[in-house]
Amino acid sequence: MTSPPPPDRPPFRAPASPAQPGVGGRFGRGAKPPPEGSPPSKKRFGAVVHALGEVDSTQAVARALADDRAPEGTVVTAEHQRAGRGRGGRSWLDRPGEALLCSVVLRPAIDAAEVPQLALLAAVAVAEAVEALTGLAPGIKWPNDLVVEDRKLAGILAEAATDSRAVTRVILGMGINVSQREFPVDLAARATSLALLTGREVDRGALLDGLLTRLEHWYDIYLDHGFKPIHAEWCRRTVTLGRTVVAGGAQGTAVGLDHDGALLVRDAAHRTHRVVAGEVLDAPGG
Ligand code: BTN
Repeated sequence: MTSPPPPDRPPFRAPASPAQPGVGGRFGRGAKPPPEGSPPSKKRFGAVVHALGEVDSTQAVARALADDRAPEGTVVTAEHQRAGRGRGGRSWLDRPGEALLCSVVLRPAIDAAEVPQLALLAAVAVAEAVEALTGLAPGIKWPNDLVVEDRKLAGILAEAATDSRAVTRVILGMGINVSQREFPVDLAARATSLALLTGREVDRGALLDGLLTRLEHWYDIYLDHGFKPIHAEWCRRTVTLGRTVVAGGAQGTAVGLDHDGALLVRDAAHRTHRVVAGEVLDAPGG
């Protein structure tokens, strides 16, 4: 999993030194300075981008920056992670240059119990960014996996620090499979990439740009109006509702997303279970 990217692939972005983040632009590629006299950009997400080469995890870099008072919207990207983290303590593997790996610093005034809503929000943003760039319409598998034809295209990890129940910062990590033409044998049946789905190379810089735009859009709505508008959009894009699933110890039909992001599963005895965390598996014979 550590072979170098093929020589014909353009670099994601010249890795900047961690001490010298790109400031003022979403991403280096194709970015032009604004014309003189134009109003300053109000964009917070990606106003500061730390575009790095190889790191343990962009989550760890972003957390250290956040602990050092990095502003909300600070972004960390990497070409490769030596120890990428997935949900549930799993690892997230990549080969250099093949995935969009990024973490964003957020400082919402929410309770710890609401943090999963940010991952649901991010799933909507990733789906929209992918759709805008490729025409694909990824589905959201509860809680926040992006899938196409039942194969995972992207994953999201929200990690929070709290002061008793209040959140002091959230690091929102997103990994999108972009250029992979093949996967390790144990993942091959379950994973996909934009290159496999579209048959072409997709520009990671443009994808990051679109992702940050949609993320900021939904985040601002979330801060102003709460989870309800995101709930509606998540439900429109999910592939989980209506399926027969096993989740959080319950087996039955996924019938809804609760107001707070919990999955509602109705069992054979018509009891409804709230599942607040975990994975959804297709039920045997479902
Ligand atoms: C999952 O589906 O298990 C979540 C995967 C999240 C992976 C991303 S890649 C960028 C960021 N850095 C990490 O170490 N993890 C997240």
